[in-house]
Formats: sequence, structure tokens, C-alpha cells
Amino acid sequence: PAVAAHRADVIRASGAQRVLDLTGGLGFDSRAFLDAGLAVIAVERDPVVGAMLAFNCPDATVVQADATQPGALDGLLSSLDPTDVVFVDPARRYPEAARDAITARARPERDPEKWSPPWSWVASIPHPRVAAKVAPGFRPSPDWQAQWISADRTVVECSLYSWPATRTSRSAVLVRDGAVVDAVAEGPALAVTGTLDAWLIEPDPALTAAGAIGSLPDASGLAWLGEGSSWLTGPASPSHPGLRGYRVLSELRGSSRQRRRQLEDLGVTHATVKSRDGRMRPAEVLSSLGITEGLEHVIVVTRCSGRTVTVVTEPVHLTL
Ligand SMILES: C[S@@+](CC[C@H](N)C(=O)[O-])C[C@H]1O[C@@H](n2cnc3c(N)ncnc32)[C@H](O)[C@@H]1O
Repeated sequence: PAVAAHRADVIRASGAQRVLDLTGGLGFDSRAFLDAGLAVIAVERDPVVGAMLAFNCPDATVVQADATQPGALDGLLSSLDPTDVVFVDPARRYPEAARDAITARARPERDPEKWSPPWSWVASIPHPRVAAKVAPGFRPSPDWQAQWISADRTVVECSLYSWPATRTSRSAVLVRDGAVVDAVAEGPALAVTGTLDAWLIEPDPALTAAGAIGSLPDASGLAWLGEGSSWLTGPASPSHPGLRGYRVLSELRGSSRQRRRQLEDLGVTHATVKSRDGRMRPAEVLSSLGITEGLEHVIVVTRCSGRTVTVVTEPVHLTL
């Protein structure tokens, strides 16, 4: 709800009075628009979903229609003022699609042309202000303002605006425990160092997606550890909530036996492994090092100067 409320606030603050929500669904977004003081016309093509939408949002005008049918929107669009907003949250999962073996949820469709409505249709809506919710991995063209939103350090979505709704073209919004803690605009790109400094730093993925790390006050002295690494390195512990710091104790080198001995010398018997940049899964890393899962230390496996590096660290704030 915090994410939908944030988008509704952005739209309200940009001077809109009304939102035409073309993919109403069950009405979570429409509800947020209403709660922000906007009038809502919600279109939904599925009659059963539309009935639930009407139930969830009794103060919205609900229209059952396929928004992409020629002429379907003519009357609705002409009733809007130029400052009002058309919103689209395309369907990206289909009940008939392949299911994830673990979650049993339909897998999200990655091709934006297979979304409903397709992205090219969204991009051609004849209205000056269109807002959309898209998958975090979508790369919008520069004529859309984009805001990547993370909730508790996972990027949950990207909000797009076809007009200057936010301060900058690219930005990150960080939500923690249901509240927005910071919005950070894009900044200068950070260098890649290739050399481990005193700290490894894990940036919130929304900051990375928006290219926003370079505009944080903490950014001076920070660099990417390696090309393709999701880790930063720097001389000091960061203080921004979007940067988690891990004090570097040692880089593990040599054979498996030598690495086990290094861990023994450091007194490390339990660790959490963060290996998303490497090829081994955390359980494999732990068993190769002869230690077990635990919170005392964090072992980071990442890429640096074309090789895999394994670094033993001490987390400063460990919230996994
Ligand atoms: C991702 S869901 C939207 C969820 C919604 N934003 C909410 O907060 O509940 C997409 C919805 O769009 C509807 N939809 C897809 N294509 C449509 C179209 N061409 N016209 C109208 N509704 C459509 C689907 O039936 C589905 O309910």
C-alpha cells in the first residue's frame, strides 16, 4: 500500500484532479488514488474482476470494457483535463502461463509486447499525462521519467510518468516498514576500482537501478568493486539507510584447505553467504569452507577484475 500511496501522492502533487485507471483489477491502485483525494474512473475488461473492483472502490466510476478496442476510450479521454492522468498497470502474469515450480505462481511475462495491454499501446495513448507501473527490470526510454521503488530492500516496481512529475528523470524511492524513508535522484556514475577497500557496501537495488548512488552524501570514496559486481567498496561505514556496510576482515585465497585454515585463524565458524554475483549457491560455499550458517559473519562472493573473490566480513547492521 505504501508504494501505491506514494505514486498517488506524486500524481496528486503534479496537479491532477482525476485518474483514468485503464487496468482497474481489484482496485488497489484505484483505492490509493481515491485516498489521495483524486476522482477515479476505472476500466476493467473482466466482468468478475470488475464487480470486485466496484465493491472495493464504491466511490470510483467503474467501466467494464477492453481499453484497447478502437473507440473504447474516446469519450473517457475527452472528459479529462490535460493535467489529469491516465494510469496503466499492464497484466504481466497469465493463469495459463508456465508456473514457477516453487511458488506455483504464473511466471511473469518479460516481453512488454505480450503484456496486456502491450507496452507499445500504452506508449501511444493520446493523452499528455500517462503514468504506468512496470516490472523493475524494464528499461524505459528517456522520454519517460522513472522511479524505482524498493520495499525492505527488494525492488518491487518501477513507476513511469510521461510528463515531469518528479524532480528528475531517474530516481529511487526507499520504503521501509511501510513508510517512505528517502527519495534519491540519479547522480554521477561511480568508478570501478578493482581493489578491495576497508568496507564492502551493499546498495539498495532501487538506488542501483536508478543510478542514484552517486548523489548520496556517502558516495565520496565509494566505487564499484568490479565490473558486473553488485557490491561497492569504500574506506568508511556508510550511514545512509540505502547502503549496508560490512567491515572487511580478510579475502580468502588459495586452495580449499588454505581457505578453511584462514577461517580457523579468524575464528569464523558460522556465516551467512551472499553469492548472487558468483556461480555457487550459499549452501555450496558453506560446505566447501567447512562452516555452517550463522549470523556472526557474512561471506561475500562477487566478481572483481575478471575473477571471483570471496571476502569475510563483519556486518554492521544485519537485517537479512
Ligand atoms: C496487473 S492487473 C491491475 C491491478 C490493479 N492496478 C490493482 O491495483 O488491483 C491488470 C488488470 O488489467 C486488466 N486488463 C488487462 N488488459 C486489459 C484491457 N485491454 N482493458 C481493460 N482491462 C485490462 C486485467 O483483467 C487485470 O485485472
